[in-house]
Amino acid sequence: MRVLSGIQPSGKLHIGNYFGAIAQMLRQQEEHQLFAFIANYHALSGGAKLEELKQNTFEVAVDFLSLGIDPEKTIFWTQSHVKEVLELYWILSRYTPVGLLERGHSYKDKVAKGITPNHALFSYPVLMAADILLYDAQKVPVGKDQIQHLEMTRDIATKFNNEHGDIFTIPEAIVESSVAVVPGIDGAKMSKSYDNTIEIFMQEKPLQKRCNKIVTDSTPLGEPLRPESCNVYALATLFLDDISCQDLAKRYQSGEYGYGHFKKELKELIWDYFAPAREKRAYYLQHPEEVFAILEVGAEKAKAIAKEKMAIVRDAVGII
Ligand code: ADP
Ligand code: TRP
Repeated sequence: MRVLSGIQPSGKLHIGNYFGAIAQMLRQQEEHQLFAFIANYHALSGGAKLEELKQNTFEVAVDFLSLGIDPEKTIFWTQSHVKEVLELYWILSRYTPVGLLERGHSYKDKVAKGITPNHALFSYPVLMAADILLYDAQKVPVGKDQIQHLEMTRDIATKFNNEHGDIFTIPEAIVESSVAVVPGIDGAKMSKSYDNTIEIFMQEKPLQKRCNKIVTDSTPLGEPLRPESCNVYALATLFLDDISCQDLAKRYQSGEYGYGHFKKELKELIWDYFAPAREKRAYYLQHPEEVFAILEVGAEKAKAIAKEKMAIVRDAVGII
């Protein structure tokens, strides 16, 4: 089965990204043919600072490789290295009613926030459809906010297929409801837009400082704490098995420890969990040529599939 996922290079990865998206990709990679790409064309449509885009694209590649994307198993590339996607984007535009895009939640939300929309923002879902249909992806793991984009992809593909025969695979979204929303340091959903993240690859001291900022209640020292309503506990459980969670809960309830203690423990958990990835990351940052070579090999594999598909699509629509 082909599973495809795209990641926008829009800043430093945080532990919400890891447990919400990356961990899922790592599992998919073991079971299926995973296609994973860095959606740098998509990043042009939004608020990304373009002078940082090159560096962010490189860093996301480094981070994904460090966290375990395995180029031996997964086809891993940069979107802009396979130009066929832009050709398909244009062809699919012919099968995309303007009304469909006008109903886009993500587009409408941004307009409602007062952003003057450019055409890239408006047609974002068509490029996303091209990403998916070009490689005949069957399953696309996404967060809830992307479900409508997947439905648009299905609509566009169905419209095309109705006119030209079964050319595109109709993809399905995988939305893992079991993946809880990871809370940020203020207890709201962790998101870089809310400035409440804990980045995966922070230095040790800033990491402790960030953990110290996690909002907790004001139970005085010496009294039992309630794990179920504690953000520090919620974050710690992401790194622990069931038995260790129970053990931690008991220590909360014992009244022997204050929040400061558990914030130190949380920092240790995060620090240790990502230690192997941090080592790999230091290596890749020192060897950018290896990272680019990996992306190049991925792009070649993706391009071979894309070229074959585009020959069929062009033929169907009469482009010579
Ligand atoms: P952000 O909200 O920080 O901008 P993105 O929208 O770039 O994050 O999300 C990238 C991926 O990470 C998506 O698949 C999204 O569902 C997942 N993700 C982001 N934040 C969280 C979170 N707090 N909990 C679970 N998953 C998350
Ligand atoms: N829109 C996705 C996001 O912001 C990124 C993306 C681009 C994507 N193309 C895709 C995701 C294709 C899955 C499949 O998270």
